Amino acid sequence: MTNAGDGEWGWLVNPAAALPGQAVPGAGVLSADGLRQAKAEISSWDDYAPTPLHHLSGLAAELGFADIIYKDESARFELQSFKALGGAYAVLRQAQSYLQDRLGKAIAIADIRAGDYRRQLQDWTVCTATDGNHGRSVAWGTRMVGCRAIIYIHATVSEGRKQAMEGFGAEVRRIDGNYDDSVRLAAVDADAAGWIVVSDTSWPGYEAIPTDVMHGYMLMAEEAIAQLAGQRPSHVFLQGGVGGMAAAVAATCDLHWGADRPCIIIAEPSEAACLYATADAGRPVVVPGDLDTLMAGLAAGEVSPLAWRVLQDVGDGFVHLPDRDVPPLMRKLAHGIGGDVAVVAGESAVCGLAAAIRLRANPQAAAAFGLDDASRILIFGSEGATDPVLYNEIVTAA
Ligand SMILES: Cc1ncc(COP(=O)(O)O)c(C=O)c1O
Repeated sequence: MTNAGDGEWGWLVNPAAALPGQAVPGAGVLSADGLRQAKAEISSWDDYAPTPLHHLSGLAAELGFADIIYKDESARFELQSFKALGGAYAVLRQAQSYLQDRLGKAIAIADIRAGDYRRQLQDWTVCTATDGNHGRSVAWGTRMVGCRAIIYIHATVSEGRKQAMEGFGAEVRRIDGNYDDSVRLAAVDADAAGWIVVSDTSWPGYEAIPTDVMHGYMLMAEEAIAQLAGQRPSHVFLQGGVGGMAAAVAATCDLHWGADRPCIIIAEPSEAACLYATADAGRPVVVPGDLDTLMAGLAAGEVSPLAWRVLQDVGDGFVHLPDRDVPPLMRKLAHGIGGDVAVVAGESAVCGLAAAIRLRANPQAAAAFGLDDASRILIFGSEGATDPVLYNEIVTAA
């Protein structure tokens, strides 16, 4: 079922999603073993702790839900986004395999982090493209191992986000064009220069590293499931850029609940709705243009094929919505409604919640997804104030 909305927003029920009780072929792209390995590594990093899970019952009452359960990634290490779990983890895995090949012996990642191989790694170079948070994670990871980072950003990535990556010692190169152009250029330049690409998106023939990245993201979902202590949400709302985060969470839900999993809905900015367009067409579709959206972390026009293989089976619904939904919701969360804890939610963090609000207020959509007063919705607040200047401007605006 599709509702083209008024052009400003739209929603669709994925006709290809597995029905309850059906096998989910795509979910096998990501594995319990991959998650176990990511958890063993990441949980041994300094300052690791599961991020908080808040129950926003005041907001839930206002919006007509039984509960809004908010996984708060603003507290994720010093990076303030879930992306800390992916790029940095993949850098460490790549450093390990580079050293093992070069030195011909087994090497523990813990020893790389301890600085035992800094000399061998100082000229090894990691490259990526980013709209902000992934690059920050990669730069953080390269600082942990002591190698070089060269990071490509597109025209509209904010200065604050650029400087945050430079603060971890990365060389940041701004290109003309959009996010997808930066991904392509990074891959071409890395190939010519012999750098290793650590991307959060995949393309044909390049899947192993983004798989590591997504296994890292799965830890966020596993933490949330453990914090739910046996309670199953009715719906999970996930914002999508290339789809990596949504696929990682959806796959973790599938591993944990199987056919009894919650209804999974993916939300994007209308300016960069490549997952929506892909679900609508039933095959990967490229969204062209400058992809300019306030939700900077979601400004992708091409899906990750790896992520799509999961989401085509496990993504029950897709929504796109306008930027104007974002600032009021950030302010609402910042102030806390009806005694709720105040939450620092960045521009890209609120997209899933904005979708829940739009669907709940639309009788046809609410009925299609079974959203009502009894719904207990799980939201992944994927970033905090990752650009503090922009965040403060938005939250303090009248
Ligand atoms: C804060 C935030 N949320 C969500 C996403 C979406 O992640 P993905 O591109 O894996 O779909 C991103 C991507 O950069 C992000 O920065």
